[in-house]
Amino acid sequence: MRQAGRSLPEYRALRTSGTMLDACLNPELASEITLQPVRRHGVDAAVFFSDIIVPLHLAGVEVEIAPGRGPVFTKPRETASDIAALTAIDPATVRERAEPIVRAVERTTQLLAEESERRGEALPLIGFAGAPFTLAAYIIEGGPSKDHMGARSLITRDRAAWDDLTAWLAEITGTFLAVQLDAGASAGQLFDSWAGALAPDTYRDAVQGSSAAALAIAREVAAPEGSGLERIPLIHFGVGTGELLADMATIDIDALGVDYRVPLDVAARRIGRPLPLQGNLDPALLFAPAEIRTAAVERILTEGLAAPAHVFNLGHGVPKDADPDALGGVVRAVHAWRPA
Ligand code: CP3
Repeated sequence: MRQAGRSLPEYRALRTSGTMLDACLNPELASEITLQPVRRHGVDAAVFFSDIIVPLHLAGVEVEIAPGRGPVFTKPRETASDIAALTAIDPATVRERAEPIVRAVERTTQLLAEESERRGEALPLIGFAGAPFTLAAYIIEGGPSKDHMGARSLITRDRAAWDDLTAWLAEITGTFLAVQLDAGASAGQLFDSWAGALAPDTYRDAVQGSSAAALAIAREVAAPEGSGLERIPLIHFGVGTGELLADMATIDIDALGVDYRVPLDVAARRIGRPLPLQGNLDPALLFAPAEIRTAAVERILTEGLAAPAHVFNLGHGVPKDADPDALGGVVRAVHAWRPA
């Protein structure tokens, strides 16, 4: 999740100068930060250090990540002409300017291979991108918002502009994910963080198609020869999407992330097809006494048995002030657990 690094003193030590975007585009820094939670916590995979707005920056859209706020653009883009000016940018620009990302992924997979050698087990790198709706929620408002009214209202205010924007975003963000997979990431995740703001009908009618289109671009990347994989696993995740899980799962994905609001066994029933699940410890439990935290971890692992496979993680981002030792405790509890 986006703030995993923030709780670590070694992350803060590396981020004393320069902006978040500078760090994302610096292959040495990005790869080093990616490895930090792996080394400290002994987790079984690394999440690439980047951000969902990086492909927009690569495409030449002016954007920054404001500390404590999130993605901020120079202006809102609410009208058909604002949107037409954006979508005139050729999405191929993302791949043309992706050199720092390619180098960061390559360097990260190399560092992971060394770490993997020490541990004697594989350490995959999970690449990621933001879903078109979540990116649109920031772009239209020009920054973070509570209810994403800009994006939700554009769907009916000007459907043609909405379709134009989300089709363009699907190419921008799908290309960003494909670039990471081409460079050696072992799995890809699409974050539709704010899709939970949508009614299921609206999701199906106006949002699902562009998420599927973004994932289809990533799907074109073949699994590396000798990996033993038929295809590169793709994960889809949204926050507050309990009512949307079945619809999200109709997309061609290999695993579905579930936030902390829906127990994994309930999610498995809602989805109605055998799909590996990822989730879903409430980040608030990082502040709980160890025995309460461990009991929650064990409950989630038991609930996860309802799915054909389960990737344990938090049900959303790591709070900035979380105690790194609590995260380490979660990892140890997961590794120690065996089904009854
Ligand atoms: O934690 C990691 O290092 C993993 C890499 C990662 C980041 N962003 C780095 C980051 C991932 C997976 C993301 C995804 C992301 N970014 C999402 C989707 C996932 C989710 O959490 O819902 C979203 C919505 C964003 C946009 C974004 N970027 C927000 C809302 C923020 C938080 C702003 C704040 O400071 O509260 C960011 C900043 C961000 N992205 C940080 C990191 C490590 C924090 C920057 C810092 O303080 O150093």
